[in-house]
Order: sequence, then C-alpha cells, then structure tokens
Amino acid sequence: MGEAIRVMFARIADRYDLGNTVLSFGVHWLWKWQLVRLCDPQPHLRWLDCATGTGDIAFLAARATGTPQTIVGIDFCAPMLERARRRAQAKQMPIQFQQADVLQLPFSDNTFDRATIAFGIRNVDDPPKALKEMARVVRPGGIVGILEFGQPSGLIAPLYRWYSRWLLPRIGGWISGDRRAYEYLQHSAWHFPSGSEFLKLMDTSQAFAHSEARPLFGGIAFLYRGIVQ
Ligand SMILES: C[S@@+](CC[C@H](N)C(=O)[O-])C[C@H]1O[C@@H](n2cnc3c(N)ncnc32)[C@H](O)[C@@H]1O
Repeated sequence: MGEAIRVMFARIADRYDLGNTVLSFGVHWLWKWQLVRLCDPQPHLRWLDCATGTGDIAFLAARATGTPQTIVGIDFCAPMLERARRRAQAKQMPIQFQQADVLQLPFSDNTFDRATIAFGIRNVDDPPKALKEMARVVRPGGIVGILEFGQPSGLIAPLYRWYSRWLLPRIGGWISGDRRAYEYLQHSAWHFPSGSEFLKLMDTSQAFAHSEARPLFGGIAFLYRGIVQ
C-alpha cells in the first residue's frame, strides 16, 4: 500500500500544487496557515513537517517563525521533494528537505518542538503508528498538529458530496492526467475517521497528554492538536 501511494504521488507531483489550488479554490492555503498558527509558531522552534509534499507547511512555518534554518520537511516521495527543494532555492529559504517515511523517522527522541502533517495522515498505512512516531521525535510539552479532510454535515454535505465525488476527480484528472489518483484521494477522504473518531485514534497512540479537534468549513476538513506527554 505505502509503495502504491508513493508511486501515485510521483505520477502527479508536477501538477500537484496547481491541482490543490484549483480544486480548493485556494482555500487550502487558509487551512494550512491555520494549522501553522495552531502550533504557536515562534522563532527558533525546531519544526518537523511530515509528508511535506512540495513543502507548503514547511514554507508557512518558516515564514511564521522567521527561522527557516530550524525547519525540516520529510516525505517518502522523491519527485515531490524535488519540487520542495526547488521552491526553497527560489525563495532562498534554507529549509532542509529529506526523504523519509513517517512510520520510521530517522531522528532521535525529542529532536523537535513541533511536528505537523497536512493531508498526509490518511495516506499512511498505520496512522496511530505515524502519530506515535511524530510524538516520539517531539519533546514533552511540544505540539503535534494535523490537518486532514473530514466529512461535512448539514446543508453543505450534499453539495460537497456531489463536488468531491463527481467534479473533483474529473477536474483533478484534467489537470494531472491521472483521474484515478484523484478518485482515490477523494474516496480516502470520505472514509477516514474525523472529529471525535480521529481523537480516539490519537488516544490509541498513547502519545498525547491532551488532544483537541477543530472543524473547518462545516467539517470538510479538521485541525487537530496534540500536546506530547
Ligand atoms: C496529499 S499530499 C500532502 C502534501 C502536503 N503536506 C500538502 O498539504 O500539500 C500527501 C503526501 O504524503 C506523502 N506520504 C504518504 N505516506 C507517507 C509516508 N509513509 N511517509 C512519508 N510521506 C508520506 C506523499 O508522498 C505525499 O507527498
């Protein structure tokens, strides 16, 4: 499964950023910024962004802290990381991008003050293990922040269901040339635990002294924050 995901992201890496912006009408930037704010950014924080992709969260964290040299981004897909490195060069931000699996992070315990993952946790084979691994490399009292899709309720639900099931894979397919990748991405979003169900998953990792969830846009996405114990 992990290998299939890695290959899928390698196929769509070139058009991934454009796809995100078009498909979310730019809203993904707002949500990503909210994730960074939720992690209480301050200068010199040692910050690990997992499943960083092309580096959006790492760049926002660098901007929010003002210290890009203490930000590290990891991803297991080389073509996504290549784009992240090119962007870092263009922005002249000395962020370190490294190829690694979030299920087996190549860092000692307590290396970081913050760890984040945006739209990545639902793609890993073993989410509680990934959360545990992220918490392991963060010092006690540090923050693990997560942004992930949910399932909206109320009036917005039928409209969003139609958009994400029917329109999103088609538009994603036109942009990337890989409709199946976008079918998978929306399907996994509809079936991944969100809200209180995800908090239970955080509990099973036994890594957090406290955890909380915040819905975005009626539950289309959620922000989660765990304080490492
Ligand atoms: C939907 S993208 C999100 C990228 C970025 N965080 C963003 O929000 O734009 C998911 C990323 O997770 C990465 N990924 C999935 N499983 C992973 C794992 N086990 N270890 C590291 N990266 C992983 C993929 O390669 C892909 O770049």
